[in-house]
Amino acid sequence: MKVALGVTGCIGAYKAVEVLRGLQKTGVSVEVVMTRNAANFVAPRTFQAISGNPVVSEMFAPTDDPQIKHISLAQEIELLVIAPATANILAKMAHGIADDFLSTLYISTTAPVLVAPAMNAEMWRHPATQVNVRILRERGVEFVDPEDGYLACQTVGPGRLAESAKVVERAVGIIGERISPASSRRNAGTRDLLGERVLITAGPTYEAIDPVRGITNRSSGRMGYAVADAALDRGAEVTLVTGPVRLDPPARANTVRVRSAAEMLEAVRAGMTNTTVFVMAAAVADYRPVQSNNQKIKKNAGNLVLELERTEDILAEVCRTKGDRIVVGFAAETENVIVNARAKLVAKGCDLIVANDVSADDAGFDVPTNIVTLVSVDETTELPLMSKREAADRILNEIVKLQKASSAVA
Ligand code: CTP
Repeated sequence: MKVALGVTGCIGAYKAVEVLRGLQKTGVSVEVVMTRNAANFVAPRTFQAISGNPVVSEMFAPTDDPQIKHISLAQEIELLVIAPATANILAKMAHGIADDFLSTLYISTTAPVLVAPAMNAEMWRHPATQVNVRILRERGVEFVDPEDGYLACQTVGPGRLAESAKVVERAVGIIGERISPASSRRNAGTRDLLGERVLITAGPTYEAIDPVRGITNRSSGRMGYAVADAALDRGAEVTLVTGPVRLDPPARANTVRVRSAAEMLEAVRAGMTNTTVFVMAAAVADYRPVQSNNQKIKKNAGNLVLELERTEDILAEVCRTKGDRIVVGFAAETENVIVNARAKLVAKGCDLIVANDVSADDAGFDVPTNIVTLVSVDETTELPLMSKREAADRILNEIVKLQKASSAVA
């Protein structure tokens, strides 16, 4: 399966290398198309070496290939991603100007198009750009909007290229919908969680050692946030208890921000009364320093020994009084994934464990994809590589199934 990655000329062009790597990790072949200006920022050779494919930039480059390149590539690709996209390429796309390879590829392809703009804040806000964005959106082009932040032009505002993982995540979602429309459509518009109150925990916890140091882990929060998004789309009322992450919580969720395992436990206890489904996706620290110092610890000549104590097991506590709630835990494993997950299911007393092998490249921490196995009392279902959003929907499908089974017994 092939994706074309268009790179246009702005300072964010170097981040396209991360987008390329992220796309490749999902198993797709990527052909990079650069505009002439993009080559002023990153050498085409960089993309060529990483993608393993020649980089296309000239419309009429001499070639032995008898095919018309922009047409053959337009027909081969499942998706055209343009990241970063300048104000100039957006204007050309909106008005059908085809004066170089990338703009010609855009009007030659019927594949979906995903655009991640990056530019100075005033250029982004300019009515001309905003009109072009609207035209493209109306035409079905998808956007990963630029983020607010400190820009290369030393101003602050909207215009910074979105995080590369976000671009890859959306790209994976679009490809998934294209290759298995049935499975993606299965949940589209489904409101099977209407009336459910779902409490989801996400992200890592941070256990302070002193005011400037602490113990945490690599959890990005993506999986828990994807479950929150999917549950909201399916009609649930969602409370998201989140540890410190770099993601924006879904606006429709009731978000409670916490830092430590103790704070997370408190927030879960407070939210539990009304909850009908509990999903414990957070990567809670198992240990915290016995003593958290109010002042920064000064170094001295000797070693420093930190004494750690166990944190509360939030999932196990919820399970002790779970009643007829559906309770889901996660198991991040590096070996004997299914055996360990089943042991956790029994030890903690939950209804479902979502297990993943965090040592795999495409699964686990800080990647947009996951490979999970759903372990319930009666079944073990190994799922293939998919976007975290799709994995979230499969988890919710299983929850709905478990709810039906338990109400049939009752
Ligand atoms: N969990 C929790 N409270 C903790 C530790 C873990 O609620 N203090 C939850 C996690 O959110 C996850 C499940 O328990 O849903 C399993 O977490 P994991 O870290 O994989 O397992 P542990 O029980 O901590 O066991 P181990 O670290 O030994 O594998």
